[in-house]
Amino acid sequence: MPGGPDAEDVQLSLDLPTDPTLFGDLERLLTRVVEAAGGRVHLVVQNAALLRRLLEERRWLEAAVHQSGNGVLILDRQGMVVGFNLVLERLSGWSLDDAVGKPSHQVFPFEVAGTSYSLQPLAMEGDGPPPVEARLTTREGAPLDVEVASALVRDDRGVLLGSVVTVRDIRARKEKERLERIFLSAVSHELQTPIAIIKGFAGLLSDPEISLPPEQVRQKAAIIEEESARLERMVSQMLLASRLQAGGLKLERETVALEALVARVVEKLEPVAQARGVTLRCDYPGEIAPLHVDAGKIEQVVGNLIENALKYSGGHTVTVRVAQRPWEFEVSVVDEGVGVPLESREQIFQPFERGAQGPGKIHGTGLGLFICKAIVEAHGGHIGVEDAPGRGSRFYFTLPRGSTP
Ligand SMILES: Nc1ncnc2c1ncn2[C@@H]1O[C@H](COP(=O)(O)OP(=O)(O)OP(=O)(O)O)[C@@H](O)[C@H]1O
Ligand SMILES: [Mg+2]
Repeated sequence: MPGGPDAEDVQLSLDLPTDPTLFGDLERLLTRVVEAAGGRVHLVVQNAALLRRLLEERRWLEAAVHQSGNGVLILDRQGMVVGFNLVLERLSGWSLDDAVGKPSHQVFPFEVAGTSYSLQPLAMEGDGPPPVEARLTTREGAPLDVEVASALVRDDRGVLLGSVVTVRDIRARKEKERLERIFLSAVSHELQTPIAIIKGFAGLLSDPEISLPPEQVRQKAAIIEEESARLERMVSQMLLASRLQAGGLKLERETVALEALVARVVEKLEPVAQARGVTLRCDYPGEIAPLHVDAGKIEQVVGNLIENALKYSGGHTVTVRVAQRPWEFEVSVVDEGVGVPLESREQIFQPFERGAQGPGKIHGTGLGLFICKAIVEAHGGHIGVEDAPGRGSRFYFTLPRGSTP
């Protein structure tokens, strides 16, 4: 063998033995070692390439599973949790460490139409059941609307290994469906009444066979006018709400005096208050700095809050109070009425939510507070409700002074 360390090694081994039999054994042994080592080196190189490819594929698979927009859950054939991705971790509140190895029904309890829905692969047929809408109870016990689809996984010989379950969050779709349902029922209840009244009285007035005394004609015409105004208000509320939901609120700011703005609204609603026997009061803190807001829209907020106070409270006095702080203005409408129960204080600001005082008793579409919230938040302010001192509620909203020029 020419030069190099190999030649030197061989030379060394050839020098060592003195016994020719031993030399023959050693030669055979060395040949076997070299052959084995050579083979293993080749194998090791091959394995390293395979391992690299496997790791690469695994990285891709993991990235695809983890970055999937849906929850992905892997179960073994007995239905025990093998793993799941970050989306499902976030949706369910379970961490991998706490869930792996547990039965899936313990970690991810699904219900379809009120009965528990099993994900057990052994009990499934074919490639797995079609997707179903289900309710998942999270680790904290909160219900979550999801769509679940199971695909059974088999090896090359068709032996069942387990399943891959896809969990899709359908809360947004459910909420949209709920709003559509409420919208339809609000429209049918609230719009149908004025339409029926207008139609009835207009028919009466236009009937050539019925002649009414002038006073009665005036009365009926006044009712038609009133109901048309209600209809007009409702339609414009609905249009504004749908524009707000589409994210299309544009503010046209101008510099205004808050005191004058509130006074204008109070003056407009004075007759309504009088008709209900309610005293409408204003309470200003003296000199109020001018502010830069969309005056028409803020008037709408104050108007909605006062209207609600007159409509729902049933108290004797409604007070509109303006407070001025170094960083913000606050307008509150305080009534002495029934108040708003703690559990619906967030809800009533959602579209079509009519709270405890709404349905069946007093007309309304449940859009007033939703519109108020959108307007106030577009100004960078905050709106809320709390108990008024004594009895009733205090609806308030803030406008940051940053919006002052
Ligand atoms: N001052 C109040 N006192 C008690 N409950 C109130 C008061 N203001 C509002 N609520 C409750 O909040 C609900 C939602 O009010 P919101 O103004 O959004 O809708 P609405 O008055 O029902 O209809 P509209 O769209 O005609 O204003 C009301 O239905 C009522 O149950
Ligand atoms: Mg209202």
